Amino acid sequence: MAAEVRKRNTNANGEGNIDQPSEPEVTTLKRNVGIVSGTSFIVGSIIGSGIFISPKGVLKGTGSIGLSLVVWAASGVISLLGALSYAELGTMIPRSGGEYAYFYDATFPFVAYMYSWTRTIVLQPSGLAIICMTLASYMVTFFEYCGTPIPPEKTIACVAILTICIINCYDTSWAAYVQVFFTVCKLVPLAIIIIGGFVKMGQGGHTELQDGFKGTTGSVSSVALSFYDAMWAYDGWNTLNFLTEELKNPYKNLPRANVFGVVLVTIVYVLANISYLVVLTPAGLLASDAVAVDWGKAMLGKAYVIMPIAVIFSTFGAANGLCYSSGRLVYAAARDGNLPEVLSYVHVKRCTPLPSIVLTCVIAILMIIPANIGQLVDFFSFSAWLFYGTCVFCVVILRIRKPNAERPIRVFILIPIVFTLCSIYLVVAPIAQNPSLEFLWAAVFIVGGLVFYLPFVVFKLDRGCFDKVTTFLQLLCEIAPSPYVPD
Ligand code: ARG
Repeated sequence: MAAEVRKRNTNANGEGNIDQPSEPEVTTLKRNVGIVSGTSFIVGSIIGSGIFISPKGVLKGTGSIGLSLVVWAASGVISLLGALSYAELGTMIPRSGGEYAYFYDATFPFVAYMYSWTRTIVLQPSGLAIICMTLASYMVTFFEYCGTPIPPEKTIACVAILTICIINCYDTSWAAYVQVFFTVCKLVPLAIIIIGGFVKMGQGGHTELQDGFKGTTGSVSSVALSFYDAMWAYDGWNTLNFLTEELKNPYKNLPRANVFGVVLVTIVYVLANISYLVVLTPAGLLASDAVAVDWGKAMLGKAYVIMPIAVIFSTFGAANGLCYSSGRLVYAAARDGNLPEVLSYVHVKRCTPLPSIVLTCVIAILMIIPANIGQLVDFFSFSAWLFYGTCVFCVVILRIRKPNAERPIRVFILIPIVFTLCSIYLVVAPIAQNPSLEFLWAAVFIVGGLVFYLPFVVFKLDRGCFDKVTTFLQLLCEIAPSPYVPD
């Protein structure tokens, strides 16, 4: 029975056919992404929840308006250095697999494995958790507006994750239709906030900005933590790299779209923060849990409800996108033998990578239960910067190890070096000065990869002990191995 179920393959329609592996269709990607769509793709991937949740943390960590704006602008510059370094890696190693392939070529397979593990077990689920917690905090203000009883925030976040999980396991094509709607949802409140900020300043509301750097913190780790908050809002700066094959004239357009995209987001973020500060005052910003809503209450009167509604849709779209990509990443990691095989199975009828989507969502829910949003951001950023820094340093390693390899894009060597130094600061400063539990947990999760690596990846011991579980899950969830990459 087990053998029969294991041999089941799914064809393109998702129907099972026993013992007849079908040929995977070969699809070639068309190069139809130009500079404008490339730039909007990167802007769309970066903007999500962060600008509606992080400003408070950045101001708290820096202690002054001046330094908080510097952190927002500097985070944009760091993201740009990262994006440019990735452009060299992406065009030099154009295989799919992104960072995994860069680590594989520049360092040891073990490092590539650890990255893949951390991404699937730590980064994707915690990212999903943060976005859904942001959604929940705006949902609370919406319930408040409607005057209905307000469920606990964490319950709302978990329900959001479950909904997204079910949608993604059932069908993913719907998201493509509503993508434009989601994008409008995140741009509208930002446009209102920026224009409102100018109006307020025109009315003489800029006195708040005159205090500048008064109150600036002297703590290096506290500034690093405020970078964590800001850099969460910029996360996604590396996404264009995964689209290289679809870019028209990638050697020109990849760096250009990265520069335009990141610079545009930086301008939007700095202007939005100035607006929050002039409208709410720093004290009001520090007291706010849903900053865009309090901004709306101050500027729009009763019409402020447009803010939570737009942010709820925007974060829902972002969470859905993350869940979608996460499902595919876990699927790919399992197919490469880095995670249990069952995670590379797809649903026989729906053709969705059900086990990997469920895994991501379950971990995200487990993370939400004990932690608040600030802790989750620290947990995410610590792990992310450990690997972003190492990955960008691969540019330097590869320049030494493969000096003559073809590099269609060759960045100025100081770019990856400065980025690496920034990430060392971002990883070391918070633990050196103020080690908190989030970092210990992040380390435990990452090291957990080691425990899995030796027995299951190196010695391939999983055959015996996972077979029964695999068969059970196959029957329970109607999943099967598939040669197809799910769409
Ligand atoms: N910057 C986004 C936000 O503010 C988070 C992006 C999540 N990560 C990703 N790779 N898409 O919500």
